[in-house]
Amino acid sequence: MKEKFRWGIIGCGLIAPKFFQGLEKTGEGHVVAAASKSIRCARRLQKKLGVPQVYGSYAEMLDREKLDAVYIANTHAEHAAAATLCLNHSLPVLIEKAFTRNATEAEEVIALARARNLFCMEAMWTRFNPSTAKVRELIAEGTIGEVRDLRAAFCVKMPPSIKTMPWNRMYNPYLAGGALLDIGVYPIAYAHMVFGQAPERISSSATMAWTGVDTTSEYAFDYSGGRRAELIASFREDRPREAVITGTKGTIRIPHFYGSDRVIVTRFGHSPETIQCEPNGFEHEIREVHRCLREGLIESPLLPLDETLETMRTMDTLRAQWGMKYPGE
Ligand SMILES: NC(=O)c1ccc[n+]([C@@H]2O[C@H](COP(=O)([O-])OP(=O)(O)OC[C@H]3O[C@@H](n4cnc5c(N)ncnc54)[C@H](OP(=O)(O)O)[C@@H]3O)[C@@H](O)[C@H]2O)c1
Repeated sequence: MKEKFRWGIIGCGLIAPKFFQGLEKTGEGHVVAAASKSIRCARRLQKKLGVPQVYGSYAEMLDREKLDAVYIANTHAEHAAAATLCLNHSLPVLIEKAFTRNATEAEEVIALARARNLFCMEAMWTRFNPSTAKVRELIAEGTIGEVRDLRAAFCVKMPPSIKTMPWNRMYNPYLAGGALLDIGVYPIAYAHMVFGQAPERISSSATMAWTGVDTTSEYAFDYSGGRRAELIASFREDRPREAVITGTKGTIRIPHFYGSDRVIVTRFGHSPETIQCEPNGFEHEIREVHRCLREGLIESPLLPLDETLETMRTMDTLRAQWGMKYPGE
């Protein structure tokens, strides 16, 4: 068995430390280098975490370091270029959500990874949390009967601050900002998991910021046999960030569904039962990457690339319904 995986990080922002700590928790690898477009940013991360080597250029890190895999955590608009760079350096990639800006970019990254026989996965950490595995198990066992309906909300109010300024990535169309790609992607990917397919019909609405990206967006997905998902993402309001799956025999409620430690099952006519799960964290998705690398898999069966591509296509359809385009599209 491989001793320790040597990881590089691209993008030295807010989420990079969470990956670093998740990797340490696995006990299976270390971050050996990190790169930012700004060497100051990279040095800040180095000081905070003790990353051995940092670079002010992505290409320089890839040229100089001996890496086993790269975690890509810059803006959505930069994911495709960074992934292409890594794959062309023969390096497997774990790419933060949203995978790319749009389905066309996703297709190109996926085609390159497959052509070069290299591992590639969207870092949709929710999918790998133990609570999510429990939800899949409960559905498969028929605990709530046939799944009929999913409601999920990811709404987090961002008060006027630096984060809501147009140059911040959240609101910046040039960086593929907006609630849809930043947080809407979680309930959309969750719906894909629950129903095991992309929606057959999509209707939606969005409230736009003056910068041209959505600040609140709502999606209704229809599936065969009258099954349905109603989802919402917002930067403008707080709501309980939960998912409720209703079946013919009961419900599963998942508080903080994107990173939950527990699920609450109610069989109709019975009291709710809380199932405590192992703690959530990035370590679960990272262990899955390591397992795939060890076994020579180029994608994870838990989050296949075709599913990531379907999610990107769904988000393209939603944006088309609102007339929302990123510059250069
Ligand atoms: N899995 C999760 O729980 C989770 C949570 C939050 C975010 N994310 C995802 O992780 C990725 C990074 O998110 P984050 O919160 O870490 O973002 P962030 O702190 O705002 O920025 C991350 C990096 O993106 C680049 N960047 C940010 N703003 C920029 C700007 N105005 N101009 C040019 N480059 C800019 C920089 O890359 P360089 O350092 O290379 O210059 C920066 O270090 C996104 O895909 C996001 O959706 C995931």
